[in-house]
Amino acid sequence: MTSHTASRVDPYSDEFLAEPWDDLTLIRDAGHAVWLDRYGIWAIARHDDVVAALRNHEKFSSSRGVGLADLAVDQSWRRPSILVEADPPEHTRNRKVVAGTMTPKALRSLESAFAKAAGRIVDELIDRRQFDGVRDLAEVFPTEVFPRAFGIEVNDETRQRLLDYGSLVFNGNGVENQRFRTAMANAEETISWVTATCARDALQSGGIGAAIHDAAEAAGLTPDDGAMLVRSFLSAGVDTTVSGIAFALNNLATEPDQWLLVRENPLLARAAFEETIRRDCPVIGFFRTTTGSTTVGDLEIAGDQKVLILFAGANRDPRRWNNPDGFDVTRRLTGHLGYGIGIHACVGMVIARMEGEAVFTALRDRVRLIEPNGEPIPRLNNSLRGLDSLPLSIEPA
Ligand code: HEM
Repeated sequence: MTSHTASRVDPYSDEFLAEPWDDLTLIRDAGHAVWLDRYGIWAIARHDDVVAALRNHEKFSSSRGVGLADLAVDQSWRRPSILVEADPPEHTRNRKVVAGTMTPKALRSLESAFAKAAGRIVDELIDRRQFDGVRDLAEVFPTEVFPRAFGIEVNDETRQRLLDYGSLVFNGNGVENQRFRTAMANAEETISWVTATCARDALQSGGIGAAIHDAAEAAGLTPDDGAMLVRSFLSAGVDTTVSGIAFALNNLATEPDQWLLVRENPLLARAAFEETIRRDCPVIGFFRTTTGSTTVGDLEIAGDQKVLILFAGANRDPRRWNNPDGFDVTRRLTGHLGYGIGIHACVGMVIARMEGEAVFTALRDRVRLIEPNGEPIPRLNNSLRGLDSLPLSIEPA
């Protein structure tokens, strides 16, 4: 065993949250696991090590929280998730319940609704020629199709509450800094809205939300557990997709050769979104807690340690990827970790990909030119990368 390296990298600094790439290189190059002494946590950022840790859920537990707080000792700001913050056998049972609702038939039925919504939104933007890629497209599309798929009425309040809740959840995973405190100061109303919205009676029949409740009941879970499972989707399914669409728009606007490839080949609309999830990796990292002493490469880590698993580090590891910082819509993307891997791998990734495909297919079919019309502004959040603003201009095909 070799001795470990300590690092002063601060994964909650503004600089890291806006552009983590140099710090992630430092972490990867320092060793298989690095001690971040500012917070007393480990960080893992090499692709092979991230895969090994995520696959080893017995040693790397999620039930003590996927954020910085250790739920064995710290109070959580919300009731812990019974999905992402659960280990087997509880996780296995709950995952089966939700996964069973994502049938090919249910997903196929969303496809035409997604395509129609994306086409309508893009048509409106073409009339305007200039718009903000975040506020007018990346936020508008998921906050329309996601609640509709789950049986939640779409209106201005729904859209805002979903965005607020996502922002709260991802800020709440971090250290108790100003971002965390600001998110918490406005949390009460948002949490009440989410709790009411996830209840069985509030969800329209025929939607995925009601299907989750039915499947939960059939598995012998309480109505409260059913609502908690629906809450998992509201937590994870909106801001992540908003962020992916915003970064993909930015990538295609700033890399005209890649846009041209997408224009020439309809299959690459989906690939452009997916390569963005690899390269720009909205979910920077989530935590695990070691259940006993374990090894990461040539290092030994003791039990009861919080370990930050950096999906974003793995996705740009030059040990795994050629030209990892480059945006290449023709890249073979097998093995990217933007959706995680192992038992907690994103259960909504098919929906996320369908959303990305719908938006970028609508754009490639209708738009000839997409260009920056100002500087993008990052949106800083304790664990979710994103953009606050992205001025764009487009020309119709
Ligand atoms: C581009 C969009 C998305 C990204 C980048 C993303 C990323 C992730 C990641 C990295 C994880 C793994 C967490 C871990 O290992 O601790 C995860 C889990 C999860 N995601 Fe996503 N996600 C996206 C979209 C969605 C959507 C659209 C939904 C719902 C429809 C969703 C629902 C979930 C749920 C429920 C989990 C927890 C799964 C479990 O613990 O078994 N996600 N996601």
